[in-house]
Amino acid sequence: MSHIFSGIQQLPPDALFGLKARYTADTRSEKVDLGIGAYRDENGKPWVLPSVKEADKLIHEDPNFNHEYLPIQGFASFVDAAAKVILGDESPAIKQERLVSIQTLSGTGSLHIAAKFLVKFYNQSQTVYLSKPTWANHYQVFESLGLKTASYSYWNTETKSLDIEGYLNDINNAPEGSIFLLHSCAHNPTGLDPTRDEWIKILEALKSKNHLPLFDSAYQGFASGDLANDAWAIQKGVEILETPILICQSFAKNVGMYGERIGAFHLVLPTSDNKSAILSQLQTFIRSEISNPPAYGAKIVSKILTTPSLRKQWEQDLITMSQRITSQRIALRDALVQLGTPGTWDHIVNQQGMFSFTGLTKEQVARLESKHAVYLVSSGRASVAGLNNHNVQYVAKAIDEVVRNTDTKL
Ligand SMILES: Cc1ncc(COP(=O)(O)O)c(C=O)c1O
Ligand SMILES: *[C@@H]1O[C@H](CO)[C@@H](O)[C@H](O)[C@H]1NC(C)=O
Ligand SMILES: *[C@@H]1O[C@H](CO)[C@@H](O)[C@H](O)[C@H]1NC(C)=O
Repeated sequence: MSHIFSGIQQLPPDALFGLKARYTADTRSEKVDLGIGAYRDENGKPWVLPSVKEADKLIHEDPNFNHEYLPIQGFASFVDAAAKVILGDESPAIKQERLVSIQTLSGTGSLHIAAKFLVKFYNQSQTVYLSKPTWANHYQVFESLGLKTASYSYWNTETKSLDIEGYLNDINNAPEGSIFLLHSCAHNPTGLDPTRDEWIKILEALKSKNHLPLFDSAYQGFASGDLANDAWAIQKGVEILETPILICQSFAKNVGMYGERIGAFHLVLPTSDNKSAILSQLQTFIRSEISNPPAYGAKIVSKILTTPSLRKQWEQDLITMSQRITSQRIALRDALVQLGTPGTWDHIVNQQGMFSFTGLTKEQVARLESKHAVYLVSSGRASVAGLNNHNVQYVAKAIDEVVRNTDTKL
């Protein structure tokens, strides 16, 4: 029987979560999941960080622990500590009190709040420029609120490196005051970040066109193992730029609490004026959508950030994760070189963060899945965290086989 909703069209499954479902259903024991961007330990298992375990214990032992609602803008000590992590303890934006911050539902929720803020308070004719390629969800987050999107040059397929000339040209050719989304480190999906010199050129170009920068920080500390290093571009932006700066901060990856949805939105202003008005507007967004943010993860992260011994442990945990990933990059590159796999593979070790943009074609990726039970997204992006000493040789041999037995040249 037809009814008022019977015309609704079925959408294809989300590419990443669809891949996960196929992987889970696969009964081959040698299967390898290089799809979703979540850290795995040496045995391919999720890892609860030692710093998180310890913070969890302290929180539950505290006789004052409870499950009350948080304020609309979030857990104050979390929000303050989060701002200091991303901007630096000595940030002029914090010292001069020109920062508005609010707790959000992880990085995605932060991007959504940023998008809502732009829709309501920024020039409606402006477009959000996204790197080509970018995290696929960026398009949906902005477009679902009616914002226009476009792309700027980033990855040079031929050289497997940054197309800095194309990037700077696109900044210069975009209409004055455009919105530019920048991955602050561990660019998803390419794992390729600008050098510091390149960042300065990018920031100067943005400044000269009065563009509005939106930094997406989903991997701070996860990329290099060093929190300050991974926030360098943002902190440099605060120093150089004269426009407001939007920052979307996620704690999913760097504390390994993906499902707890811990994040913050920060707006750095040129002056300390108008902050309370802006916060009141952000509070209304949160109140109307989720009433107030989730408490558990924010309490954990706040405990880690404000307890010196836990903070130290967390910094060690970041090194543990980033070094294991780096060692698997080297192991995969070395195995491919050893096998004499056609093509060049140094880009795997030159990239950083969770992902490697392998350069494998759609056809090769499909064959990896069907013939070898090795799962990665069709763009050729591999989540390096899925590799370990038990499976890296197997994956290298599988890549070698598909590269040799598909027509497509790398
Ligand atoms: C570039 C980028 N931005 C934002 C996010 C948001 O993640 P979450 O909402 O889990 O914090 C991700 C997660 O994969 C990402 O890769
Ligand atoms: C808004 O953006 C459009 C498109 O870039 C531009 O032409 C227009 O001048 C802008 N308006 C204001 C008030 O800045
Ligand atoms: C924003 O701050 C400036 C400087 O203090 C002030 O003149 C202006 O009225 C403020 N805007 C609003 C809407 O209150």
